[in-house]
Amino acid sequence: MHFHILTLFPDMVMQGLSQSIIGRAAERGLLSIETVNIRDYTKDRHRKVDDYPYGGGAGMLMQAQPVYDAWKAVKERIADRAQAVSPQHVPCGYATPQKGQAQDAREQTKQAASQRVRTVYVTPQGATFTQQMAKELAKEEDVIFLCGHYEGIDERVLEEIVTDYISIGDYVLTGGELPAMVMIDAISRMVPGVLTNGESGDTESFEGNLLEYPQYSRPEEWHGKSVPKVLLSGNQRMIDAWRREAAVARTRERRPDLYRKYEQGQECIASLKKQKLLHMDMIELIARGQAQIIFAEGANICLRDMASGIYFHTAENENMGKRMLKELAKQADAASGVGLLVLHQEFMVEQAKRQIGLSDIMACSQVVYTKREKLPVTGLYSVDGEEHAGQPGIRPLGMEHIDAVVRHYGEIVDREYIADRIAKQAMFGAFLGGELAGFVGMHAEGSIGMLHVLPEYRGRKFGKALETYMINRCLERGYTPYGQVAVGNGISKQLQESLGLCFSRSCVYWLEKAQEEEKER
Ligand code: ADE
Repeated sequence: MHFHILTLFPDMVMQGLSQSIIGRAAERGLLSIETVNIRDYTKDRHRKVDDYPYGGGAGMLMQAQPVYDAWKAVKERIADRAQAVSPQHVPCGYATPQKGQAQDAREQTKQAASQRVRTVYVTPQGATFTQQMAKELAKEEDVIFLCGHYEGIDERVLEEIVTDYISIGDYVLTGGELPAMVMIDAISRMVPGVLTNGESGDTESFEGNLLEYPQYSRPEEWHGKSVPKVLLSGNQRMIDAWRREAAVARTRERRPDLYRKYEQGQECIASLKKQKLLHMDMIELIARGQAQIIFAEGANICLRDMASGIYFHTAENENMGKRMLKELAKQADAASGVGLLVLHQEFMVEQAKRQIGLSDIMACSQVVYTKREKLPVTGLYSVDGEEHAGQPGIRPLGMEHIDAVVRHYGEIVDREYIADRIAKQAMFGAFLGGELAGFVGMHAEGSIGMLHVLPEYRGRKFGKALETYMINRCLERGYTPYGQVAVGNGISKQLQESLGLCFSRSCVYWLEKAQEEEKER
């Protein structure tokens, strides 16, 4: 991920961000931080970048020209870099473009890359920065930060370049450098690989609308205070339960605003559990802290998964269902609208197609592993990730495996999505003799999927091994493992049944944004 900071104080930013975890991540090539001195772009003989505001008033304003030219220079560099790497993006299985075509493709890549770069103006007038914003921005390849000074920046340039106005809180600082540094720190730790302990980015304060539980280290007693006994018990289940309770109590006490959201989520879970198997996707979204509640009234619930942008909808009857679709359309991303929607009742399918302009993709059964005990792995795979005595080793896939995954799933999910799953260490391969024999993944919304065993390795329980691996991995994280099996996929059904997973009686229905021609018909 690349950060570009437009500032009048580049040294201040570089000094702050070249240390500790962020500095090390930059050294390891996971991030790059570039500062651009806006003053270098002024056309003024005296290198001036500010002037008096029209209409009078206190202080000076940063002028449009140097800000715009500095920003344009960064965009050009981003576009050139995208162009230089574009041949890698030719999807496998497609013919390599001829010379002229390649040039066109590169030009398109350059244009696309430079068009969509997020430009954040850090300002007390913006929306308040949250952990969720940090997560979303961490998915971008490039983010430009614009740091203001004096009394602000000429509005005309802001209108042309800014995509996001963000504040770090309701107080005013002397400039945008500190807020930009705060945001870059929070975003960076959401970039896969930046935090060395793979889990810590997932399980800290604000996940699931709960603050983090209290933590203790040695010595066991300090200033007459003992570490809570349960933490010394070695009983992980009791420890987890204690931590959960402590997190809830702390949130209730310190952050009543967050606690209200947590409670609303718990009420939704209680209602969804009345048809637990059918609603496991929605239950897990709330439990894993990924859900934005769009609508909740009794058993009528509509959620947006903040990780994938997918909407989930369950309704008691058609009237309530329609009301929720209306609400959903109103709240849907202004830019992308409703891209994907998962309905939990068949009676809503035709209505959603008409009301929002969606088309069917598939109907699936929800399959859930309802036990808490991990599945046995002996005879299936080696737990250390290395292969032993004919048993495969299972470990995260690297980008070098993307073609293998695209070959089998490229029709269903696009290459960019698979690259994202690999980058987030959410795809795992079974390896034998150093060769990839099969793979499985976790979708952005949290279901287990994309299971595939290469033909020459079939009949050797590799599918079972990969599925078992994912189920146990989910359990280790306190998740309920679940997946979705498309109606008619007998092989997958058989495998899930053999592992003891339970099937929902009715289906969930996946719909996607209809193509323009379809909508017109
Ligand atoms: N610039 C000055 N104060 C700020 C704040 N609170 N957040 C973001 N940018 C700022």
